[in-house]
Amino acid sequence: MLGVMATVELKLPHHRYEIRIAPGLLSELGREVRAVAAHGRAAVIVDQSITSTHGQAAAESLQQAGYQVHQAIMPLGEQNKTLATFDKLQQSLLDAKLERRSPVVAVGGGITGDVVGFVAATYLRGVPLVQCPTTLLAMVDASVGGKVGVNVTQGKNLIGAFYQPQLVMIDTDTLNTLPPREVRCGLAECIKHGVIRDAQLFDWIEQHAEQLLSLDSDTMVELIEANVRIKAAVVTEDEMEAGVRAHLNFGHTFAHAIESTTDYNTFKHGEAVGLGMTAAAHLAADLSRCDASVPVRLLSALQAVGLPVKAELPATDKLLDAMTMDKKVADGKVRLVLPDRIGAVSIVNDVPTSAIAKAWDALGG
Ligand SMILES: NC(=O)c1ccc[n+]([C@@H]2O[C@H](COP(=O)([O-])OP(=O)(O)OC[C@H]3O[C@@H](n4cnc5c(N)ncnc54)[C@H](O)[C@@H]3O)[C@@H](O)[C@H]2O)c1
Ligand SMILES: [Zn+2]
Repeated sequence: MLGVMATVELKLPHHRYEIRIAPGLLSELGREVRAVAAHGRAAVIVDQSITSTHGQAAAESLQQAGYQVHQAIMPLGEQNKTLATFDKLQQSLLDAKLERRSPVVAVGGGITGDVVGFVAATYLRGVPLVQCPTTLLAMVDASVGGKVGVNVTQGKNLIGAFYQPQLVMIDTDTLNTLPPREVRCGLAECIKHGVIRDAQLFDWIEQHAEQLLSLDSDTMVELIEANVRIKAAVVTEDEMEAGVRAHLNFGHTFAHAIESTTDYNTFKHGEAVGLGMTAAAHLAADLSRCDASVPVRLLSALQAVGLPVKAELPATDKLLDAMTMDKKVADGKVRLVLPDRIGAVSIVNDVPTSAIAKAWDALGG
Protein backbone atom coordinates (compact mmCIF):
# COMPACT_ATOMS: atom_id res chain seq x y z
CA MET A 1 0.00 0.00 0.00
CA LEU A 2 1.50 3.34 -1.01
CA GLY A 3 1.20 6.42 1.21
CA VAL A 4 0.45 9.96 0.02
CA MET A 5 1.36 10.23 -3.64
CA ALA A 6 1.57 12.86 -6.34
CA THR A 7 1.95 13.00 -10.11
CA VAL A 8 3.29 15.96 -12.08
CA GLU A 9 2.99 16.07 -15.85
CA LEU A 10 5.67 17.67 -17.98
CA LYS A 11 4.30 18.70 -21.37
CA LEU A 12 6.55 19.75 -24.22
CA PRO A 13 5.49 20.32 -27.83
CA HIS A 14 7.13 17.05 -28.93
CA HIS A 15 6.82 14.91 -25.82
CA ARG A 16 5.01 14.51 -22.51
CA TYR A 17 5.87 12.45 -19.46
CA GLU A 18 4.89 11.91 -15.89
CA ILE A 19 6.87 12.37 -12.73
CA ARG A 20 5.45 10.13 -10.01
CA ILE A 21 6.23 10.72 -6.36
CA ALA A 22 5.37 8.31 -3.51
CA PRO A 23 6.95 6.21 -0.79
CA GLY A 24 7.51 2.61 -1.92
CA LEU A 25 7.21 3.47 -5.61
CA LEU A 26 10.12 1.29 -6.75
CA SER A 27 7.92 -1.77 -6.20
CA GLU A 28 5.64 -0.42 -8.96
CA LEU A 29 8.52 0.32 -11.32
CA GLY A 30 8.11 -2.70 -13.63
CA ARG A 31 4.41 -2.13 -14.19
CA GLU A 32 4.89 1.60 -14.84
CA VAL A 33 7.82 1.09 -17.20
CA ARG A 34 5.81 -1.47 -19.14
CA ALA A 35 3.18 1.21 -19.76
CA VAL A 36 5.71 3.52 -21.47
CA ALA A 37 8.29 1.10 -22.92
CA ALA A 38 7.02 -2.44 -23.31
CA HIS A 39 9.80 -4.75 -24.48
CA GLY A 40 11.42 -8.09 -23.60
CA ARG A 41 14.60 -6.61 -22.19
CA ALA A 42 15.53 -3.70 -19.94
CA ALA A 43 18.76 -2.31 -18.51
CA VAL A 44 19.10 -0.99 -14.97
CA ILE A 45 22.16 1.11 -14.24
CA VAL A 46 22.62 1.71 -10.53
CA ASP A 47 24.77 3.96 -8.33
CA GLN A 48 27.47 1.72 -6.88
CA SER A 49 26.58 2.44 -3.24
CA ILE A 50 22.95 1.28 -3.54
CA THR A 51 23.13 -1.76 -5.82
CA SER A 52 22.10 -4.30 -3.18
CA THR A 53 19.30 -2.10 -1.79
CA HIS A 54 17.39 0.21 -4.15
CA GLY A 55 19.06 -1.23 -7.25
CA GLN A 56 17.93 -4.71 -6.30
CA ALA A 57 14.38 -3.49 -5.63
CA ALA A 58 14.26 -1.86 -9.07
CA ALA A 59 15.61 -4.94 -10.85
CA GLU A 60 13.16 -7.26 -9.06
CA SER A 61 10.20 -5.11 -9.95
CA LEU A 62 11.22 -5.09 -13.62
CA GLN A 63 11.72 -8.88 -13.57
CA GLN A 64 8.28 -9.36 -12.04
CA ALA A 65 6.83 -7.29 -14.88
CA GLY A 66 8.38 -9.76 -17.34
CA TYR A 67 11.58 -7.95 -18.37
CA GLN A 68 14.82 -9.81 -18.83
CA VAL A 69 17.00 -7.41 -16.86
CA HIS A 70 20.58 -6.42 -17.64
CA GLN A 71 22.25 -4.80 -14.63
CA ALA A 72 25.24 -2.43 -14.72
CA ILE A 73 26.96 -0.29 -12.13
CA MET A 74 27.60 3.44 -12.18
CA PRO A 75 30.88 4.05 -10.28
CA LEU A 76 30.83 6.78 -7.60
CA GLY A 77 31.72 10.44 -7.76
CA GLU A 78 32.25 13.33 -10.19
CA GLN A 79 35.62 11.76 -11.11
CA ASN A 80 33.68 8.96 -12.80
CA LYS A 81 31.17 11.19 -14.58
CA THR A 82 33.32 10.83 -17.68
CA LEU A 83 33.39 9.73 -21.29
CA ALA A 84 35.30 6.63 -20.12
CA THR A 85 32.38 5.54 -17.93
CA PHE A 86 29.95 6.48 -20.72
CA ASP A 87 31.91 4.23 -23.08
CA LYS A 88 31.96 1.29 -20.64
CA LEU A 89 28.21 1.53 -20.12
CA GLN A 90 27.57 1.71 -23.88
CA GLN A 91 29.71 -1.42 -24.36
CA SER A 92 27.79 -3.25 -21.65
CA LEU A 93 24.47 -2.43 -23.35
CA LEU A 94 25.86 -3.62 -26.68
CA ASP A 95 27.13 -6.85 -25.10
CA ALA A 96 23.72 -7.41 -23.52
CA LYS A 97 22.14 -6.84 -26.96
CA LEU A 98 19.75 -4.17 -25.76
CA GLU A 99 17.56 -3.01 -28.64
CA ARG A 100 15.96 0.22 -29.83
CA ARG A 101 12.84 -0.32 -27.75
CA SER A 102 14.58 -1.63 -24.59
CA PRO A 103 14.17 0.83 -21.70
CA VAL A 104 17.25 2.02 -19.82
CA VAL A 105 16.56 2.76 -16.16
CA ALA A 106 18.82 5.00 -14.05
CA VAL A 107 18.75 4.38 -10.28
CA GLY A 108 20.84 6.83 -8.26
CA GLY A 109 21.68 10.48 -7.69
CA GLY A 110 22.29 13.23 -10.21
CA ILE A 111 25.59 11.76 -11.32
CA THR A 112 23.98 8.45 -12.28
CA GLY A 113 21.00 10.19 -13.90
CA ASP A 114 23.19 12.51 -15.99
CA VAL A 115 25.54 9.79 -17.27
CA VAL A 116 22.87 7.12 -17.83
CA GLY A 117 20.67 9.74 -19.49
CA PHE A 118 23.47 10.56 -21.93
CA VAL A 119 24.00 6.84 -22.56
CA ALA A 120 20.27 6.42 -23.32
CA ALA A 121 20.29 9.52 -25.55
CA THR A 122 22.97 8.07 -27.79
CA TYR A 123 22.73 4.26 -27.56
CA LEU A 124 21.36 3.19 -30.98
CA ARG A 125 20.58 6.93 -31.45
CA GLY A 126 18.29 6.95 -28.45
CA VAL A 127 16.36 4.43 -26.33
CA PRO A 128 13.57 4.98 -23.78
CA LEU A 129 14.94 6.46 -20.55
CA VAL A 130 13.42 6.11 -17.08
CA GLN A 131 14.84 8.12 -14.19
CA CYS A 132 14.62 6.78 -10.62
CA PRO A 133 16.36 9.49 -8.59
CA THR A 134 17.48 8.42 -5.11
CA THR A 135 18.98 11.67 -3.76
CA LEU A 136 16.84 14.67 -2.83
CA LEU A 137 18.88 16.81 -5.22
CA ALA A 138 18.17 14.48 -8.12
CA MET A 139 14.48 14.20 -7.16
CA VAL A 140 13.84 17.95 -7.13
CA ASP A 141 16.24 18.98 -9.86
CA ALA A 142 18.51 16.70 -11.92
CA SER A 143 16.02 13.96 -12.90
CA VAL A 144 13.51 16.39 -14.42
CA GLY A 145 14.07 18.41 -17.57
CA GLY A 146 16.29 16.32 -19.80
CA LYS A 147 19.76 17.77 -19.31
CA VAL A 148 22.18 14.85 -19.49
CA GLY A 149 25.94 14.67 -19.89
CA VAL A 150 29.43 14.13 -18.55
CA ASN A 151 32.42 16.13 -17.32
CA VAL A 152 35.67 16.60 -19.25
CA THR A 153 38.99 18.02 -18.06
CA GLN A 154 37.97 21.43 -19.41
CA GLY A 155 34.92 21.58 -17.14
CA LYS A 156 31.75 20.07 -15.71
CA ASN A 157 28.86 18.94 -17.91
CA LEU A 158 30.46 20.31 -21.09
CA ILE A 159 29.54 17.28 -23.21
CA GLY A 160 25.93 16.20 -23.24
CA ALA A 161 22.46 16.50 -24.69
CA PHE A 162 18.89 17.50 -24.01
CA TYR A 163 17.13 14.14 -23.75
CA GLN A 164 13.82 13.83 -21.94
CA PRO A 165 12.90 10.64 -20.05
CA GLN A 166 9.71 8.66 -20.68
CA LEU A 167 8.99 8.52 -16.96
CA VAL A 168 10.43 9.67 -13.65
CA MET A 169 9.73 7.45 -10.62
CA ILE A 170 10.52 9.10 -7.29
CA ASP A 171 10.39 6.64 -4.40
CA THR A 172 10.71 8.86 -1.32
CA ASP A 173 11.55 5.82 0.85
CA THR A 174 14.96 5.70 -0.84
CA LEU A 175 15.82 8.90 1.06
CA ASN A 176 15.89 6.93 4.32
CA THR A 177 19.40 5.68 3.53
CA LEU A 178 20.72 9.03 2.28
CA PRO A 179 23.34 10.75 4.50
CA PRO A 180 21.92 13.92 6.19
CA ARG A 181 24.51 16.11 4.47
CA GLU A 182 23.09 15.02 1.09
CA VAL A 183 19.55 15.80 2.30
CA ARG A 184 20.63 19.34 3.17
CA CYS A 185 22.18 19.70 -0.30
CA GLY A 186 18.85 18.85 -1.89
CA LEU A 187 17.17 21.42 0.33
CA ALA A 188 19.54 24.09 -1.05
CA GLU A 189 18.07 23.55 -4.54
CA CYS A 190 14.55 23.68 -3.04
CA ILE A 191 15.32 27.04 -1.42
CA LYS A 192 16.63 28.13 -4.82
CA HIS A 193 13.29 27.26 -6.42
CA GLY A 194 11.54 29.32 -3.75
CA VAL A 195 13.71 32.37 -4.40
CA ILE A 196 13.36 32.25 -8.19
CA ARG A 197 9.65 31.47 -8.43
CA ASP A 198 7.67 30.86 -5.25
CA ALA A 199 7.80 32.95 -2.06
CA GLN A 200 5.23 30.67 -0.42
CA LEU A 201 7.40 27.59 -0.94
CA PHE A 202 10.34 29.54 0.49
CA ASP A 203 8.40 30.28 3.71
CA TRP A 204 7.03 26.72 3.87
CA ILE A 205 10.53 25.21 3.76
CA GLU A 206 11.70 27.39 6.63
CA GLN A 207 8.59 26.55 8.67
CA HIS A 208 8.90 22.81 8.02
CA ALA A 209 12.68 22.53 8.46
CA GLU A 210 12.37 20.03 11.28
CA GLN A 211 9.98 17.65 9.46
CA LEU A 212 12.10 17.93 6.32
CA LEU A 213 15.35 17.09 8.08
CA SER A 214 13.70 14.12 9.78
CA LEU A 215 12.38 12.96 6.36
CA ASP A 216 8.74 12.86 7.41
CA SER A 217 7.18 10.95 4.52
CA ASP A 218 4.13 13.14 3.76
CA THR A 219 6.20 16.32 4.10
CA MET A 220 8.78 14.95 1.66
CA VAL A 221 6.14 14.10 -0.94
CA GLU A 222 4.72 17.62 -0.59
CA LEU A 223 8.18 19.21 -0.87
CA ILE A 224 9.20 17.19 -3.90
CA GLU A 225 5.90 17.77 -5.70
CA ALA A 226 6.12 21.55 -5.21
CA ASN A 227 9.70 21.61 -6.48
CA VAL A 228 9.11 19.31 -9.44
CA ARG A 229 6.18 21.55 -10.44
CA ILE A 230 8.48 24.56 -10.51
CA LYS A 231 11.22 22.76 -12.41
CA ALA A 232 8.67 21.32 -14.87
CA ALA A 233 7.09 24.75 -15.42
CA VAL A 234 10.45 26.37 -16.14
CA VAL A 235 11.46 23.56 -18.52
CA THR A 236 8.10 23.69 -20.30
CA GLU A 237 8.57 27.40 -20.88
CA ASP A 238 12.15 27.10 -22.10
CA GLU A 239 13.39 23.56 -22.74
CA MET A 240 16.70 24.51 -24.39
CA GLU A 241 17.69 27.32 -22.00
CA ALA A 242 17.25 30.22 -24.38
CA GLY A 243 15.75 32.37 -21.62
CA VAL A 244 14.03 31.71 -18.28
CA ARG A 245 15.58 28.27 -17.74
CA ALA A 246 18.72 30.23 -16.87
CA HIS A 247 16.91 31.34 -13.68
CA LEU A 248 17.61 27.85 -12.35
CA ASN A 249 21.27 28.89 -12.30
CA PHE A 250 20.61 31.30 -9.42
CA GLY A 251 23.63 31.02 -7.09
CA HIS A 252 25.36 28.66 -9.51
CA THR A 253 27.94 30.96 -11.13
CA PHE A 254 29.28 31.62 -7.65
CA ALA A 255 28.85 27.95 -6.69
CA HIS A 256 30.77 26.65 -9.70
CA ALA A 257 33.64 29.02 -8.88
CA ILE A 258 33.70 27.69 -5.31
CA GLU A 259 33.63 24.08 -6.52
CA SER A 260 36.31 24.46 -9.19
CA THR A 261 38.75 26.44 -7.00
CA THR A 262 38.46 23.83 -4.23
CA ASP A 263 38.90 20.85 -6.61
CA TYR A 264 35.34 19.66 -5.97
CA ASN A 265 36.43 18.04 -2.72
CA THR A 266 35.66 20.56 0.02
CA PHE A 267 32.03 21.54 -0.53
CA LYS A 268 29.18 19.47 -1.84
CA HIS A 269 27.32 21.03 -4.76
CA GLY A 270 24.30 21.97 -2.62
CA GLU A 271 26.54 23.60 -0.01
CA ALA A 272 28.29 25.62 -2.73
CA VAL A 273 24.87 26.62 -4.10
CA GLY A 274 23.79 27.81 -0.64
CA LEU A 275 26.93 29.96 -0.39
CA GLY A 276 26.53 31.12 -3.98
CA MET A 277 22.93 32.21 -3.41
CA THR A 278 24.05 34.08 -0.30
CA ALA A 279 26.71 35.93 -2.28
CA ALA A 280 24.23 36.71 -5.07
CA ALA A 281 21.69 38.06 -2.58
CA HIS A 282 24.30 40.27 -0.89
CA LEU A 283 25.31 41.52 -4.32
CA ALA A 284 21.73 42.29 -5.37
CA ALA A 285 21.08 44.20 -2.14
CA ASP A 286 24.36 46.07 -2.53
CA LEU A 287 23.35 47.13 -6.06
CA SER A 288 19.92 48.17 -4.70
CA ARG A 289 18.27 45.60 -6.97
CA CYS A 290 16.44 44.12 -3.98
CA ASP A 291 15.57 45.03 -0.41
CA ALA A 292 18.22 44.49 2.27
CA SER A 293 15.85 41.96 3.88
CA VAL A 294 16.38 39.49 1.00
CA PRO A 295 19.88 38.32 2.02
CA VAL A 296 18.76 38.28 5.66
CA ARG A 297 15.80 36.01 4.91
CA LEU A 298 17.86 33.78 2.66
CA LEU A 299 20.50 33.33 5.37
CA SER A 300 17.83 32.45 7.86
CA ALA A 301 16.26 29.79 5.59
CA LEU A 302 19.64 28.23 4.78
CA GLN A 303 20.57 28.12 8.45
CA ALA A 304 17.20 26.60 9.37
CA VAL A 305 18.04 23.55 7.26
CA GLY A 306 21.64 23.39 8.47
CA LEU A 307 23.44 24.75 5.41
CA PRO A 308 26.58 26.89 5.77
CA VAL A 309 26.31 30.62 4.99
CA LYS A 310 29.94 31.49 5.65
CA ALA A 311 33.10 29.64 4.65
CA GLU A 312 36.82 29.89 4.31
CA LEU A 313 37.30 30.23 0.58
CA PRO A 314 40.24 30.68 -1.80
CA ALA A 315 41.42 34.25 -2.48
CA THR A 316 38.81 36.49 -4.13
CA ASP A 317 41.01 36.94 -7.23
CA LYS A 318 40.99 33.21 -7.83
CA LEU A 319 37.24 33.03 -7.41
CA LEU A 320 36.71 35.96 -9.82
CA ASP A 321 38.91 34.24 -12.43
CA ALA A 322 36.99 31.01 -12.04
CA MET A 323 33.69 32.86 -12.59
CA THR A 324 34.76 34.06 -16.01
CA MET A 325 35.57 30.43 -16.98
CA ASP A 326 32.02 29.28 -16.31
CA LYS A 327 30.03 28.17 -19.35
CA LYS A 328 27.28 30.68 -18.56
CA VAL A 329 29.62 33.48 -19.62
CA ALA A 330 28.27 35.29 -22.70
CA ASP A 331 30.65 37.36 -24.87
CA GLY A 332 33.21 37.44 -22.09
CA LYS A 333 30.78 39.02 -19.62
CA VAL A 334 29.65 37.26 -16.47
CA ARG A 335 25.87 36.86 -16.52
CA LEU A 336 24.36 36.63 -13.10
CA VAL A 337 20.92 35.69 -11.88
CA LEU A 338 20.05 38.10 -9.08
CA PRO A 339 16.97 38.29 -6.84
CA ASP A 340 14.45 41.12 -7.27
CA ARG A 341 12.72 39.79 -4.14
CA ILE A 342 11.98 36.37 -2.66
CA GLY A 343 10.00 34.74 -5.50
CA ALA A 344 11.48 36.56 -8.52
CA VAL A 345 14.89 36.94 -10.15
CA SER A 346 16.40 38.70 -13.18
CA ILE A 347 19.37 38.03 -15.42
CA VAL A 348 21.94 40.81 -15.12
CA ASN A 349 24.83 41.24 -17.56
CA ASP A 350 26.75 44.29 -16.51
CA VAL A 351 27.70 43.81 -12.86
CA PRO A 352 30.94 45.62 -11.97
CA THR A 353 33.75 43.30 -10.87
CA SER A 354 34.29 45.41 -7.74
CA ALA A 355 30.73 44.67 -6.59
CA ILE A 356 31.19 40.94 -7.23
CA ALA A 357 34.43 41.01 -5.21
CA LYS A 358 32.55 42.62 -2.33
CA ALA A 359 29.90 39.88 -2.49
CA TRP A 360 32.63 37.24 -2.20
CA ASP A 361 34.01 39.01 0.84
CA ALA A 362 30.58 38.84 2.48
CA LEU A 363 31.00 35.03 2.67
CA GLY A 364 34.29 35.27 4.58
CA GLY A 365 34.45 32.79 7.44
N1 LIG B 1 20.71 17.34 -15.21
C1 LIG B 1 20.42 18.36 -14.43
O1 LIG B 1 19.54 19.17 -14.73
C2 LIG B 1 21.17 18.51 -13.16
C3 LIG B 1 20.70 19.39 -12.17
C4 LIG B 1 21.38 19.45 -10.97
C5 LIG B 1 22.51 18.67 -10.76
N2 LIG B 1 22.94 17.84 -11.73
C6 LIG B 1 24.12 16.98 -11.53
O2 LIG B 1 23.85 16.12 -10.45
C7 LIG B 1 25.08 15.74 -9.84
C8 LIG B 1 24.91 15.80 -8.34
O3 LIG B 1 23.87 14.93 -7.96
P1 LIG B 1 23.78 14.31 -6.50
O4 LIG B 1 23.93 15.39 -5.50
O5 LIG B 1 22.57 13.47 -6.47
O6 LIG B 1 25.14 13.47 -6.39
P2 LIG B 1 25.46 11.91 -6.47
O7 LIG B 1 24.79 11.28 -7.59
O8 LIG B 1 26.93 11.79 -6.36
O9 LIG B 1 24.84 11.33 -5.10
C9 LIG B 1 25.34 11.80 -3.88
C10 LIG B 1 25.82 10.65 -2.98
O10 LIG B 1 24.71 9.92 -2.48
C11 LIG B 1 24.87 8.52 -2.71
N3 LIG B 1 23.50 8.00 -2.84
C12 LIG B 1 22.63 8.18 -3.84
N4 LIG B 1 21.42 7.73 -3.50
C13 LIG B 1 21.52 7.23 -2.24
C14 LIG B 1 20.59 6.66 -1.33
N5 LIG B 1 19.29 6.56 -1.60
N6 LIG B 1 21.06 6.25 -0.14
C15 LIG B 1 22.38 6.40 0.20
N7 LIG B 1 23.27 6.97 -0.60
C16 LIG B 1 22.85 7.38 -1.81
C17 LIG B 1 25.76 8.45 -3.91
O11 LIG B 1 26.46 7.22 -3.93
C18 LIG B 1 26.69 9.64 -3.69
O12 LIG B 1 27.72 9.27 -2.81
C19 LIG B 1 26.13 16.67 -10.37
O13 LIG B 1 26.97 15.95 -11.24
C20 LIG B 1 25.35 17.74 -11.13
O14 LIG B 1 26.05 18.22 -12.24
C21 LIG B 1 22.30 17.75 -12.91
ZN1 LIG C 1 22.52 22.84 -8.69
